[in-house]
Amino acid sequence: MRVLVTGSSGFIAGHLVRRLVAAGHEVTGLDVAAPRRAVDGWRDVRLDLRDDAGVARAVAEAKPEVVFHLAAQASVSVSMREPRLDIETNVIASVILARAAAEAGARRFVFTSSGGAMFGAPAVVPADDDTPVEPRSFYGASKASAEQYLRIVEWETGMTVASVRPANVYGPYQDPHGEAGVVAIFAERMLRGDAVTIFGTGEDTRDYVYVDDVVEAQVRAAEAPAGEMCVVGTGIETSTRRIFELLAQCCGYERAAVMGPPRAGDIRRIALDAARARAVWGWTPQVTLEDGLARTVESFRQAVAP
Ligand SMILES: NC(=O)c1ccc[n+]([C@@H]2O[C@H](COP(=O)([O-])OP(=O)(O)OC[C@H]3O[C@@H](n4cnc5c(N)ncnc54)[C@H](O)[C@@H]3O)[C@@H](O)[C@H]2O)c1
Repeated sequence: MRVLVTGSSGFIAGHLVRRLVAAGHEVTGLDVAAPRRAVDGWRDVRLDLRDDAGVARAVAEAKPEVVFHLAAQASVSVSMREPRLDIETNVIASVILARAAAEAGARRFVFTSSGGAMFGAPAVVPADDDTPVEPRSFYGASKASAEQYLRIVEWETGMTVASVRPANVYGPYQDPHGEAGVVAIFAERMLRGDAVTIFGTGEDTRDYVYVDDVVEAQVRAAEAPAGEMCVVGTGIETSTRRIFELLAQCCGYERAAVMGPPRAGDIRRIALDAARARAVWGWTPQVTLEDGLARTVESFRQAVAP
């Protein structure tokens, strides 16, 4: 199959590219940045997705049957500081890309949304796919809007659109230097023996889902008969303080956490009930938090080793 993956130099898409190349697919990746780790056997194209003409050219050349769209401005904090960047990257570029993909004959467009950010502060936790969409950050709003726009592209073109709505994704090769990705940030700092800051009370909860499980959901979203929109999470709430403790154990870290102020746009509680993903994709998470954190720390340990 000819496949286009955007955001291919990033954390989740990097894992997806490996999986698709190993399965023998013809993969083109689009990303404005260079990959953080090398994978052979695919076409790696440097492009800013906000360049409409460049996108039209790249998609026409790749002629993908399936597009996995993961490139994004992926930080809640950045979205609150730079809404224009967030909207241009997550909404406008997604619509232009999807139309170009349909034009080039793609049959399925798999969008990566955000189950963690699109429901804001839901009345019931875990939230599921019937929970009202009421984001509390520009990032959550951009992902929810893009889903709406992509529904129009589906209706307009006949290319089916699926949406994978992950909770908090973690695993090896996540960028530890960004503002999102608490597991990567904590693990890297702990392994170096640096101070680790928890923003807010530490009692905020998130649903942590391992990257391989999210990649599996992406593949199933591409293969399913219809374009479905499903949250992808474990249903389990874990506090930031608990993540700190579990990682400290794995890393042998003995310092106390430094407490920092809460950050704009951050929500208090979220977990996702993936009942719909189970029903339509046959998807359930396979990796427990303890196992996933151990695998993640192991890979960071190798990266940090002198
Ligand atoms: N990591 C999570 O916890 C999580 C949770 C829910 C949803 N998501 C979504 O999953 C996707 C992948 O996230 P990730 O964690 O791998 O993030 P990431 O930041 O590692 O990867 C995003 C990639 O997109 C690229 N990109 C950004 N703007 C671009 C542009 N204008 N043109 C071309 N490339 C551009 C970046 O260079 C980067 O390589 C994103 O859509 C994100 O919103 C992530």
